Amino acid sequence: MESAGHRPVMVDEVVALLRPERGGLFVDCTVGLGGHTRALLDRGATRVIGVDRDPSALAEAAERLAVWGARVTLVHADYRSIERVLDERGMEEVTGVLADLGVSSVQLDAPGRGFSFRRDEPLDMRMDPTAGVTAADIVARLPEGELADVIFQFGEERYSRRIARAIVRARERRPVTTTGELAAVVRRAAPTKGWQRIDPATRTFQALRIKVNEELEGLDGFLGAAARRLEPEGRLAVIAFHSLEDRIVKHAFRALAAADDGEVAIVTKRPVQPSEAEIELNPRARSAKLRVIERRG
Ligand SMILES: C[S@@+](CC[C@H](N)C(=O)[O-])C[C@H]1O[C@@H](n2cnc3c(N)ncnc32)[C@H](O)[C@@H]1O
Repeated sequence: MESAGHRPVMVDEVVALLRPERGGLFVDCTVGLGGHTRALLDRGATRVIGVDRDPSALAEAAERLAVWGARVTLVHADYRSIERVLDERGMEEVTGVLADLGVSSVQLDAPGRGFSFRRDEPLDMRMDPTAGVTAADIVARLPEGELADVIFQFGEERYSRRIARAIVRARERRPVTTTGELAAVVRRAAPTKGWQRIDPATRTFQALRIKVNEELEGLDGFLGAAARRLEPEGRLAVIAFHSLEDRIVKHAFRALAAADDGEVAIVTKRPVQPSEAEIELNPRARSAKLRVIERRG
């Protein structure tokens, strides 16, 4: 039994829709701690390629999935390079693909990753600490207008301009390099009206995380590539956690289903959402939406 923080989201729904009981090769594009991969193997998948961009998630997955031996191959890669991952292994077609998007609760909560303002630590936020720029770099360098656009678009924050201005003023005095410093600047800048359910810094932190990890860039390209590699009756399942992501998935799936070749069909006419019971056990599952497409036979 795993703790609530490690519980894979909608695992029964994913298994029911990806149908591993027929066997076959599956790609878990976001293997994380391996919860979904384990469920796929438990229920009959012959082999799973588990991809993740976070080396520490892969190390943890390697331990947890060791009992499955050669039936699991773990790969440090970005899922946007799924075609290369498959080509390098001589795999043309796969039976199923899963992408459980975003950061894991382990990443959010782990000390030293810089995702959370619940403790003061270096402002990093990279899922792959071996590559790319940190949130501190972005906070230090982005011009005010661009910073405001990021906070508005990726955080859906109405006070984005005010917050961007406050960040620029603060960094002129001294660099903003920790989660605590950034949260304090945002809290001072964003007006709080009476009782608020979330911390005023939440949306700005989400925006920076999406920017640092380029979470929305290339998502539709990845979905098209994954769909192309499905065998007949193979399925692609995607779990999104915020509306920006889900919108991209919904539109990409519609475009694939509307394409002239008529090879892709939408399986989930409406997104599948977690049950009340699951949300009670794992409140972070609340916003999850699962969508599935199938390659026609
Ligand atoms: C929500 S968690 C997945 C949890 C997993 N399904 C489980 O059962 O433990 C998302 C994972 O996807 C990884 N990830 C996010 N974006 C990625 C990308 N572009 N390429 C590869 N992995 C990515 C993250 O590092 C994180 O480990």
